[in-house]
Amino acid sequence: MTMLGGRLIQEHQALDTLFEEIANRVHCGDTAALDESWTALESRLLAHFDYEESHLLPRFESVDPAEALRIREEHKLVRRALQDTGVAIELHTVREQNVEEFLTLLRAHAAREEKLLYPWSSAADAATRAPGTVER
Ligand SMILES: [Fe+2]
Ligand SMILES: [Fe+2]
Repeated sequence: MTMLGGRLIQEHQALDTLFEEIANRVHCGDTAALDESWTALESRLLAHFDYEESHLLPRFESVDPAEALRIREEHKLVRRALQDTGVAIELHTVREQNVEEFLTLLRAHAAREEKLLYPWSSAADAATRAPGTVER
């Protein structure tokens, strides 16, 4: 898959890498470094969700409303988990298990999008390009 869907998958991979870093920092108890990578994850993940919600889902809703709704609901769940984990990190009460649960939730969400939403986004993106335009 190239184009938009491919770029979004790369973004999922970057978020995953950041999350692995967070898991390692929780494991080591490195609170200053943890705060730093948590802040980075938070802003990047929220920006990613905002992009999906404002640019992809409104168009995808007319193609597959049930799947679009499911994705929006998962975003709500992930946002709540992000908030709860952020508070636990701030209070220095975060446990490795919290982080693992969050990571599992996030990975399942990413896998769901990569199955339907992202392949559709690449096709829709290609369809809106002018004929003869070549992606490089
Ligand atoms: Fe998403
Ligand atoms: Fe995504």
